[in-house]
Amino acid sequence: MQIKIVQGNLEHMADCIEAHKYSQLGEIYYHPDEEMAELLIDGFNKGEIYVALDKDRNCLGFIWIALSGAFYGFPYCRILAVKKDCRGKGVGTALLNHYQKMGFAKSGRLFILVSDFNKGARKLYERLGFIQVGTIPDLFKKGISELILAKFRPEDES
Ligand SMILES: CC(C)(COP(=O)(O)OP(=O)(O)OC[C@H]1O[C@@H](n2cnc3c(N)ncnc32)[C@H](O)[C@@H]1OP(=O)(O)O)[C@@H](O)C(=O)NCCC(=O)NCCS
Repeated sequence: MQIKIVQGNLEHMADCIEAHKYSQLGEIYYHPDEEMAELLIDGFNKGEIYVALDKDRNCLGFIWIALSGAFYGFPYCRILAVKKDCRGKGVGTALLNHYQKMGFAKSGRLFILVSDFNKGARKLYERLGFIQVGTIPDLFKKGISELILAKFRPEDES
C-alpha cells in the first residue's frame, strides 16, 4: 500500500478520533469524542501529530510524537492508532518508522508505553526492536499495567 506520512491538521480530526475509538484501547480508556477532539487539537497545534495518507489523501491513522515527552527530554510516542479497516497492512509500521526517523535524529533513546492487555501492539513494537524496560502498575486505570518500552539507537549499542 502506498502511504505518505505528513503533519496532521484539523482536517484529519474525525479520522483520528475514529482510529482510536474503535479499538480495545479506545474501549478500555474511553474518552467521549469531544474530549478526544480537545486533546487532539492540542497535538495538532503543537505540530506533534502525524497522519498516514493513502494515494487519494484519505487519512488511515495517526501517531502523536512528543519529541521531548519522556523523562528528561527523550522522545515519547503518546498515541498510535490506525483505522480498523486499515490494520494489518503496514500503516502502523510506517508511522512507527516515522517516529524512529524523527526520534533518533534528536536522541539515542525512544520510549513508548503499551498496556498489558494490548498483545498485538506489543508484538509489533518488539518486531521493530523495542524492548520492555519497566512496568508501571495502575498508571491510567486500576488493574492495568503500562509496560515501558524503549529502543536504543542501533549504532549506540556497539
Ligand atoms: C497497533 C496498531 C497501531 C498497528 O497498526 P497496523 O497498521 O495494524 O500495523 P502493521 O500492519 O504495520 O503491523 C501489523 C502488526 O500489528 C499488530 N497488530 C496489533 N493489532 C492489530 C490488528 N487489530 N490488526 C492487525 N495487526 C495488529 C500485529 O503484531 C501485526 O503483526 P502481524 O502482521 O505479524 O500479525 C493498530 O492495530 C491499532 O490501531 N490498534 C488499536 C490502537 C492501539 O492499540 N494502538 C497502540 C497503542 S500502544
